[in-house]
Amino acid sequence: MSDSVIRYSLADVAKCNGKNGTKTWIVIYDNVYDVTDYMQQHPGGPELLEEYAGKDATSGFDDFGHSSDAKKMLKKYLIGELQDEDKSVNRKKKRAISNGITENGANRQKQRTFLAIICG
Ligand code: HEM
Repeated sequence: MSDSVIRYSLADVAKCNGKNGTKTWIVIYDNVYDVTDYMQQHPGGPELLEEYAGKDATSGFDDFGHSSDAKKMLKKYLIGELQDEDKSVNRKKKRAISNGITENGANRQKQRTFLAIICG
């Protein structure tokens, strides 16, 4: 990975949602794309890109199963990548922690003690 790549946060991307004259940016595989000039040419229609404007469109892009030609086209619209903390893998980690799934043993112990008190 080169240092010359521009890093954006998801908050930066969210601001470029095509509304009020802003550009339309989307995220696919942790990369940031400016699709403003591509929307009208998209074979799947501009609406699908609008739906994901300012957001992570990876699931939409993958669900359709785009051709390798479509994947090559992505390069043309690439403007940067997500900063590390906003990358998909780290977002998943954050979600898991807030769900309590990956909480550490100390917290589990506390929960058990709490349950023991409630349940007598
Ligand atoms: C910059 C991003 C994107 C590029 C360059 C792109 C490119 C393409 C291309 C070249 C096709 C023609 C079929 C193929 O070669 O696979 C296509 C079709 C399609 N794309 Fe995208 N796409 C992008 C983003 C998306 C997103 C985010 C979605 C979903 C939310 C989407 C949904 C579709 C659908 C549903 C079709 C099928 C249209 C049809 O056959 O009627 N695309 N796209």
